[in-house]
Amino acid sequence: MRQMIQNCQLFANRALPMLFLVSAGLLVTACTDNLITRFPPPDVVLLQQAQQDDPTITMTDLDHGRKLYLTNCTACHSAEPIERYSLVDWQVILPDMSAESKFNARQERDVSAYVLSYRRMLAQQSTP
Ligand code: HEC
Repeated sequence: MRQMIQNCQLFANRALPMLFLVSAGLLVTACTDNLITRFPPPDVVLLQQAQQDDPTITMTDLDHGRKLYLTNCTACHSAEPIERYSLVDWQVILPDMSAESKFNARQERDVSAYVLSYRRMLAQQSTP
């Protein structure tokens, strides 16, 4: 009995914190992987797409837009998957939600450039 209690204490002292650390680590990895897959950082293809609408958009602007999307736009709800809404929907949602976020013109421009060019890219990929 005494041995069993000691084993239990050993488990609680050593194994539980380890288990906790391992699962916390897995959780963090899973979440960041997911964010990067679902909301990839801008690349050259996305930049070209965005510049078709507005030639003055830069990679930094798109990166700024993505950051706003993942931080400010998640103040009231989680980050909506971009493919969930059509381009036409987004063109209505973005001004509306930029107002909700109290974005200035620059912030609205950057978040819209990121979302719209990303949505357009997805639409092109899905057409054979
Ligand atoms: C102040 C809180 C708040 C912030 C900040 C906010 N939203 Fe929302 N969002 C809401 C609420 C409330 C709804 C649901 C009601 C509605 O559609 O207006 C919503 C709905 C949505 C929807 C679903 C729309 C639909 O037609 O079903 C999308 C997509 C969305 N938000 C994206 C965004 C984006 C992108 C941003 C950043 C630019 C943002 N939200 C910032 C409160 C917020």
